[in-house]
Amino acid sequence: MTSVSKKVRYAVVGSGQISQQAFMPGIGQTNNSQLAALVTGDPVKADKLASRYGIKAWSYDDYGQLLSSGEIDAVYIATPNAHHTYLAVDALAAGIHVLLEKPMAASVEDAEKILEASTTSAAKLMIAYRLHHEPATVQMITRARNGEFGDLRAFTSTFAQNVAEENSRGHNGYWGGPVPDMGTYPLNAVRNLFGEEPVAVHAVGTKAADRGFDFHDTVAVTLRFPSKRSAQFTVSYATASAESFTLVGTKATIVASPCFMFGPSIGISYVEKTDDGEKTHSFDPVEQFGNETQYFSDCILKGTDPEADGEEGLMDMRVLAAVEQSLKTGETVVLPPARRSKQVQPEQALKLKPAKEPSEDEMISIIPQSK
Ligand SMILES: NC(=O)c1ccc[n+]([C@@H]2O[C@H](COP(=O)([O-])OP(=O)(O)OC[C@H]3O[C@@H](n4cnc5c(N)ncnc54)[C@H](OP(=O)(O)O)[C@@H]3O)[C@@H](O)[C@H]2O)c1
Repeated sequence: MTSVSKKVRYAVVGSGQISQQAFMPGIGQTNNSQLAALVTGDPVKADKLASRYGIKAWSYDDYGQLLSSGEIDAVYIATPNAHHTYLAVDALAAGIHVLLEKPMAASVEDAEKILEASTTSAAKLMIAYRLHHEPATVQMITRARNGEFGDLRAFTSTFAQNVAEENSRGHNGYWGGPVPDMGTYPLNAVRNLFGEEPVAVHAVGTKAADRGFDFHDTVAVTLRFPSKRSAQFTVSYATASAESFTLVGTKATIVASPCFMFGPSIGISYVEKTDDGEKTHSFDPVEQFGNETQYFSDCILKGTDPEADGEEGLMDMRVLAAVEQSLKTGETVVLPPARRSKQVQPEQALKLKPAKEPSEDEMISIIPQSK
């Protein structure tokens, strides 16, 4: 980054739904980040989106040239999961910072390659866990860690939506399906609420007869943790929308809903239930994509390491891979004990105001995610 540039200059790589709906508008709410380029395989997007945001468009063939152009400091990678690895590895090798959409990759081996590239690069890698900067989520994690709900015993969650088979996540096998796409949310939530890593994973999957997915469209996962805690979550691509979790401790139960989604009208909130009664903790909607970008740019500008690093991404990936294995074999998969070196910190919660979301009509060449 040149000393003249005070803002981190991002190239958006892959201008699908999440880039157009959330990241590109959201970055405008930050004070330390700016859109500088777009990488797309679609000439219509290259023309219209680049002119809408006043930036230059590059093709995937010219990606290496962009990385060494001196025109960007960072990339935001939002391609389908199976295309994350080479884009992240090449950027890190070129000394370009990487904000990488979740899940980190489409196999543990690929996630390890990205982690390895980040450890040998001076550039930083952050996995785009937007909820690590969302005030209600950070408060629940912090209070759970401080013992305010007592000893934590159990977690249950449902996260579901009606996904279109035509969308890239609807026809690319397990790694485009509901477990990596949606299961990452309850999985990441419970790992951070419990502050430990699961050691056993079991999954059961079903396929709706009236749907055309090439994978289990509804999956129920059970996890066992070292401290004799358990977690269960169910994810689906074939139902009406649902999102909630319940965390049960010896002093309190908390029920959160909404708890995973984003948007200008979505304020995450939770109800805390104890023997003394119920208390609702409500929070205003925040700009979740702007928040994560503001935080990552701050790390880049100050030379600090982001919390949601490659290790955090890999901790989710090894469980997602174990779910895939359990679905194939019907067996419980035992994972070796693991421990993270970082934790979500209270000061990571940010409160940028939500950007205006474009309507579906305003988004260009999108294959909508929802039916
Ligand atoms: N953090 C969140 O809340 C959140 C929410 C949704 C999705 N995500 C993550 O963001 C990523 C993208 O999701 P999305 O919903 O934006 O997906 P999407 O609508 O299918 O868009 C993906 C984009 O990637 C580009 N692309 C490059 N190679 C491709 C290929 N071989 N096939 C299809 N597209 C290709 C295309 O953009 P061009 O036409 O510009 O090349 C495409 O529009 C995924 O990793 C997903 O898990 C995160």
